[in-house]
Amino acid sequence: MEKKQQWGSRLGFILAAVGSAIGLGNIWRFPYMVYENGGGAFLIPYFVALLTAGIPIMIMEFSLGHKSRAGAPRTFSLLNKKWEWLGWWQTGISAVIAVYYVAIIGWSFSYMFFSLNGAWGDEPASFFLNDFLRLTSGPFKMGTVQFGILFTIVIAWTLNFLASYGGVQKGLERANKLLMPVLIVVLLIVVVRALSLPGAVHGLEILFKPDFSQIMNPSVWVAAYGQIFFSLSIAFAIMITYSSYLPKKSDIINNAFMTAFLNCGFSILAGIAIFSIIGYLQHQAGGSLPDNMAGVFLAFVTLPSAVTQLPALNGLIGVLLFMTLSFAGLSSFISINEVVVRSIVDKFGANRRKVSVWYNLIAGTISIVFATGAGLHILDIVDHYINSYGIVFSGLIQVVLVGWFYDLKSVRDHANLTSDFKVGAWWDLMIRFVTPAVLGVNSILNLITDLRVNYGGYSTLVQIVLGWGLIAVLIIAAVAAARFKWQGGDTASLTQSNEA
Ligand code: PFF
Repeated sequence: MEKKQQWGSRLGFILAAVGSAIGLGNIWRFPYMVYENGGGAFLIPYFVALLTAGIPIMIMEFSLGHKSRAGAPRTFSLLNKKWEWLGWWQTGISAVIAVYYVAIIGWSFSYMFFSLNGAWGDEPASFFLNDFLRLTSGPFKMGTVQFGILFTIVIAWTLNFLASYGGVQKGLERANKLLMPVLIVVLLIVVVRALSLPGAVHGLEILFKPDFSQIMNPSVWVAAYGQIFFSLSIAFAIMITYSSYLPKKSDIINNAFMTAFLNCGFSILAGIAIFSIIGYLQHQAGGSLPDNMAGVFLAFVTLPSAVTQLPALNGLIGVLLFMTLSFAGLSSFISINEVVVRSIVDKFGANRRKVSVWYNLIAGTISIVFATGAGLHILDIVDHYINSYGIVFSGLIQVVLVGWFYDLKSVRDHANLTSDFKVGAWWDLMIRFVTPAVLGVNSILNLITDLRVNYGGYSTLVQIVLGWGLIAVLIIAAVAAARFKWQGGDTASLTQSNEA
């Protein structure tokens, strides 16, 4: 048996959990969500979502992982042998996300270098799509492999490999102890610089000006809950995996609150930075807002254009901006890969280092697809289906199973056991009623939209193959994986030793 893996300190765990939660979503998704859904008024549904769903589920996942001391498949099979597949489904979702998420980290690395001489010139959009990605006309037209992109993807996988191969303390914890403080300092520098640009204050006005009428709009609430789920990295096995490495005496509830609040604090700071920059661009353009204020195009078109227009230190600020994307992305990437490594190690009783080598090689090879001209198309559609169905459905099934078909009180008791601040029956209400309702509504709304219009204007064939087909394959693979025999010690004996 290998030495038991465990976080070296509480700070190490929190930084890793926060590192997972803080990702591209905080930088390119949150600010726009606020802007689009009522400005400052959005913060009300957002914090309600945080308290009624985000933190309760995080407490649940921390409690489950801490109790089982195992990755997601084993954790669910300890609750009920028939539920192991759910853990594998979440593991599969994580593996798929890892394979495409790495491309965005790679692009951010490249853009750090491009910042030095403003390589995108006067037309950052054309540069990004035509020169850099060499984007083809559709997901089934591969085009050619871009070796520059491939190179940065290999770097990102190598960094992940180092973190993964090193184990919990010498790998994951060390990586996050390095990445997180640097990320926060760099973001603060960017915030200060952005705030001092002409037009920044106006940008903040656009972002935060509250439109309270929006609070009555149900879609604003759906957006708030969606953002919270995605942002806290819940429902894709990450938090179960990370908390499985917690020492026995760990304040679960306090850790969950800290992780959640640090993540949201970061989001708000990122919002201030991004909208100060947007305000500046608007000021430069004599009043019109930039075309892209969210997602890939915010990052790789709008921000580059802002970097070019800065009055001074363009290269430096550009490097810092893309460093925030790279570092935020890397720490999330490391967490999502750990899910897969952990699940395999558990199941096959395999040596962590060997699994790490093979996993990084195989997943890394698959991600070459995202260095081709079809990369962005495939990424776009896969990401949409994985988020709208993979994560939302698996989250829904998870809260329904644990809330309704398991002794939920024992999960709460476990969380309370080592925590200073204890959660009461309100927590059960959130897990049993509020979170299933919200996730249920969310999935129905997603379904209605996608059945009405093909996502992203791609053909029905594309939706079936890369969207529904992928989700179906993941479920089938999960059910199949759950049928394999446990080789790393069987579940029944573990249940007993846990209860003893
Ligand atoms: N919490 C992350 C974010 O907001 O960007 C979500 C995430 C995405 C986590 C991708 C991990 C990951 F690999």
